[in-house]
Amino acid sequence: MNIVITGASGGIGAAAVRRFLALGHDVFGIDLAPAAVVHPRYRHFIADIRDAASLPEIPDVGVLFNNAGTQNSGDDIGNNLTGAINVTEKYIADAPSLRSVLFNASASAVSGQEFPLYAASKAGVVGYMKNTAIRLAPRGVTCNALSLGGVLTSSNDPVTSDPASWEKIMAVTPLKKWMTADEVADWVVFLTLENRSMSGQNLLIDNGERDLNPTFVWPEESPLF
Ligand SMILES: NC(=O)c1ccc[n+]([C@@H]2O[C@H](COP(=O)([O-])OP(=O)(O)OC[C@H]3O[C@@H](n4cnc5c(N)ncnc54)[C@H](O)[C@@H]3O)[C@@H](O)[C@H]2O)c1
Repeated sequence: MNIVITGASGGIGAAAVRRFLALGHDVFGIDLAPAAVVHPRYRHFIADIRDAASLPEIPDVGVLFNNAGTQNSGDDIGNNLTGAINVTEKYIADAPSLRSVLFNASASAVSGQEFPLYAASKAGVVGYMKNTAIRLAPRGVTCNALSLGGVLTSSNDPVTSDPASWEKIMAVTPLKKWMTADEVADWVVFLTLENRSMSGQNLLIDNGERDLNPTFVWPEESPLF
């Protein structure tokens, strides 16, 4: 199957490229940066997804993983939202073998936290994902989004390499860890190749950060039971 992955040179994108290659698929990566993976079944295109006209022709797309993104870049709306829309409209239009589309949104889309334009761009991605899911459903194509909490990629070096920041992060992370890019690839494969019945959903995968931090306030002397 032909798999298209944007942001294929970054931490999560490259992990997904390697995973699909290991499963025997043909993988087409798009990124501003040069290829992170060299493999006979991998083809890399250097392109800016904000420029729809620069997107390469890729035949018979089976899976599209909209993963490219930036945080606090000055153009998060362009890279994260407009770019994902450009890519999706191009590769879903004439794709008889299309099976699934997956977006890499963010926990920020759900919580509203982090950088303003980043949060707005990722919330926009979730809305656009739902619109796309509606349009693709009659073709039997699933379309979903991942909303990840922290992932151990270089885009988070400012906090993962700073012990004081990392201590603060772990204090509000109930499972006391962040995901690896390989763990994200597990979800990507399941949602794009195995899943057949869930569509239009945004999955929050955040080590319990949003829902497991107790905010129930009650006087200490009153018993809970
Ligand atoms: N790392 C995290 O903690 C985390 C958490 C939630 C969501 N995400 C999302 O996951 C995705 C991947 O994150 P990552 O940590 O692997 O980031 P990364 O910076 O390692 O990789 C992102 C890649 O996207 C590419 N890219 C950016 N703008 C582009 C454009 N206009 N055209 C083409 N390519 C472009 C970059 O060159 C880079 O290779 C992003 O969308 C990010 O917002 C990451």
